[in-house]
Amino acid sequence: MLRHNLFNLISTELEIVETKLTASINSNLDLLNETSTHLIKAGGKRLRPAFVLLAAKFYKDDLTEIIPIAVAVELIHMATLVHDDVIDNSNIRRGVKTVMSCWGNRMSIYTGNYIFARSLALVAAYGRRDIVDVLADASMKICEGEIIQMLSCYNVNLGLKNYLRRIERKTALLISLSCRLGAMISKAPEQGINALKLYGYYLGMAFQITDDILDFIAEEQVLGKPAGSDVKQGVITLPALYALKYDQHKAELSSLLSSPELCRTETDRIIDIVVNSDGIDYAYEKTRHFALKAQKQLNSLPDVPVKEALFDLADFILDRDY
Ligand code: IPE
Ligand code: IPE
Ligand code: MG
Ligand code: MG
Repeated sequence: MLRHNLFNLISTELEIVETKLTASINSNLDLLNETSTHLIKAGGKRLRPAFVLLAAKFYKDDLTEIIPIAVAVELIHMATLVHDDVIDNSNIRRGVKTVMSCWGNRMSIYTGNYIFARSLALVAAYGRRDIVDVLADASMKICEGEIIQMLSCYNVNLGLKNYLRRIERKTALLISLSCRLGAMISKAPEQGINALKLYGYYLGMAFQITDDILDFIAEEQVLGKPAGSDVKQGVITLPALYALKYDQHKAELSSLLSSPELCRTETDRIIDIVVNSDGIDYAYEKTRHFALKAQKQLNSLPDVPVKEALFDLADFILDRDY
């Protein structure tokens, strides 16, 4: 859970989410229960369920009806993480060993699918086509984002547009839908649903750019997952894109990043070039730009206490170190 008090308004509901997350995994197979609850037990920021609940809180005080969807979006998020750690060959997630590292790729594929399937059961209980549509669309786009990223590895000729497209899909849309569904289920007016959807979108963009910055500058212990992982895999993110265009070492950086072997063996040199370029500052500027756009969306929403929490959450996302 996050080290701050921005979730105070929804702390009771978040506790229920915790219980329901574990309860939602109830296979008759002990092994599947163990692999599926592994990542739940490891913690995590629970940002997406918090967004569902906070968005709903604008229009509703009693959030009982919202809790299953909050649980469902965290399950979808976790399913993508289990699969992502296979794709990225990552050993650490949320400060503990990944499902991949404990049980291997084969168990991870089905664990991810199983967690995703459990979310469907929760969503089905609403009996609402519009909710399913929103979730199906975002889930498809996450796959597209991850694939675009795979196809873009080691390609130093792709620019900002390709980068923004993939981070939108792999991250921003799920955060956007968390806010949107919270508003939809609490019967917000159309204009409120739209503002919260956009708030989540812009914040999701800021969130992923920060994640990409942290891959260059964070401590692995604080981050709870491997740092330098993007570089090792040839995933070219915003700080590197900037350095590739403007830094004095851009020719060297370009030849390093276009080689799978050099991305692995010269990781430190690549990180050094990017960190010493203006790429990190540039990327932070972009996160501020997106966070500001997110905050502006709040202007049109009712003046209730949760508004301030969402405003401050945008600032928190910029300053986070994990
Ligand atoms: C990790 O998301 C994947 C990204 C989209 C960057 P989080 O940083 O929200 O991960 P947890 O849920 O806290 O582990
Ligand atoms: C994760 O992307 C996004 C999804 C799971 C869809 P990353 O690979 O950048 O996230 P981390 O750094 O492993 O959390
Ligand atoms: Mg990845
Ligand atoms: Mg990853």
